[in-house]
Amino acid sequence: MTPDAPVVLLHAFPLNASMWAPQITALAGHQLLTPDFPGFGGRPVGPPDLDEFARVVLEEMDLARIPRAVVVGLSMGGYVALRIHALAPDRVAGMVLADTRAGTDDKEGRAKRIEQAARARKEGTGWLQDAMVPALLGETTRRDRAQVVKRVRELLGEADPEGVARALEAMGNRPDSVPRLAEIQVPVLALVGEEDTLTPEEEAKRISDGVWNGRLTVIPRAGHLSNLEAPGPFNDALLEFLG
Ligand code: MLT
Repeated sequence: MTPDAPVVLLHAFPLNASMWAPQITALAGHQLLTPDFPGFGGRPVGPPDLDEFARVVLEEMDLARIPRAVVVGLSMGGYVALRIHALAPDRVAGMVLADTRAGTDDKEGRAKRIEQAARARKEGTGWLQDAMVPALLGETTRRDRAQVVKRVRELLGEADPEGVARALEAMGNRPDSVPRLAEIQVPVLALVGEEDTLTPEEEAKRISDGVWNGRLTVIPRAGHLSNLEAPGPFNDALLEFLG
């Protein structure tokens, strides 16, 4: 990896690009792009399709004159990073796939997404904070890091109902990236919070074992939102990979 490669940071669901605040200073030596996906961070909604999310990122790369970048995606951002690689492998110099999985949802998971999309359209997104914080944040953060809990609740509070509904539908329909892992010929770092229960370590290991040049780093005392929960170790792992 080149130490000054441009870096694209892709956010989790149902947050927005401002979740990357703890990474901005650490990555100051790099040209950085932190796009919001359609329906998040004030960007208009689009079709419920992660390939459309990937195309929006590729267009932003064009506008910023970035031919090739290290793509860093956390959770939903990781699903999109894998789609960017599938659609335009030449645009990807390396990938950091954090707290994510390469496989699809099971039947139950898909049904839950349909139910939650309907709820967002009917009730708005006020319920997301209580429903998601226990799953998004690790037990250490929920116990000891009140500021992080507050910030994540704020970010969840910004979510737009139709954006949430379409992202849920897009994630529920995403293609299986497991059969494609062996085709990924760029370096990949799989990162995972030790306390991530949504996409636990075995999912990260599946990615790092499946690609041609993969490595795995586990972030201690962090859950699913490892970049916000343990920014120091997250940034160290990122910078080591980039360098
Ligand atoms: C995320 O953090 O982006 C979500 O957990 C992804 C998902 O719901 O599969």
